[in-house]
Amino acid sequence: MLVSATEMLQKAKAGHYAVGQFNINNLEWTKAILLTAQENNSPVILGVSEGAGKYMGGYDVVVGMVKGLIKDQNITVPVALHLDHGSYEHCYKCIEAGFSSVMFDGSHYPIEENVAKTKELVAAAHEKGISIEAEVGSIGGEEDGVVGMGECADPNECKAIADLGIDFLAAGIGNIHGKYPANWQGLSFETLDAIQKLTGDMPLVLHGGTGIPTEMIQKAISLGVAKINVNTECQLSFAAATRKYIEAGKDLEGKGFDPRKLLAPGFEAIKATVKEKMEIFGSIGKA
Ligand code: G3H
Ligand code: ZN
Repeated sequence: MLVSATEMLQKAKAGHYAVGQFNINNLEWTKAILLTAQENNSPVILGVSEGAGKYMGGYDVVVGMVKGLIKDQNITVPVALHLDHGSYEHCYKCIEAGFSSVMFDGSHYPIEENVAKTKELVAAAHEKGISIEAEVGSIGGEEDGVVGMGECADPNECKAIADLGIDFLAAGIGNIHGKYPANWQGLSFETLDAIQKLTGDMPLVLHGGTGIPTEMIQKAISLGVAKINVNTECQLSFAAATRKYIEAGKDLEGKGFDPRKLLAPGFEAIKATVKEKMEIFGSIGKA
């Protein structure tokens, strides 16, 4: 069932668990994530970066694929199709294409411009019943060409953006896209706590979910995080399983080169990673 992410995240915040956003790249990724959500009776958010949208052939292709899988695979759990780190222009494209949720990442703009653009997009998204995430402070590292400096968000700026009527808020709290470096200082719970005190019931979003220790994830959930984004970890597990298959020479045995066989270990690896994350986030059985 394709839905906006508002209700599932409000329920998650009230129930002290988080819903995973897992980024998709193709049919195998999307099917693996949807089946895992269904098997575990968990709500789920499919994240699409601008780069991944382009790679898959465009936003209409993505919407068609996701709606088709939901129907033909009998996916009845709540699923949101969400633009990840969207620019102003791409938020409009996804709203038009039939996404059920968008993220406007205006974190690189001066706060006044972030506020003005976010305000306009809130109206455009809500007019169509689409949920909208905004970002304050930047997530460190790089994801699909989106580079962040990793500054912790200013809680007052978070409140200014939250007050615009967005549905959930991403705030930089020392989180980084991709693998965490050995000298990473950890999440700033002081910043998160200050943000949650000022933003009340607003579900908070933790980006850079790959490789954050379980205790930190659970503490973040206890401080108001209701959505956690995971991308790199699925890529790493897909790549490792595919490498294992090829290095064992399985692609050379019988019909092992058939893409339906060649991509199967990676597909299963994504399923295992997504299930593990859903267990840690506490979303299993919450659909
Ligand atoms: O927006 C998506 C993410 O924040 C994913 O981060 O690749 O570090 O898991 P990650
Ligand atoms: Zn992110």
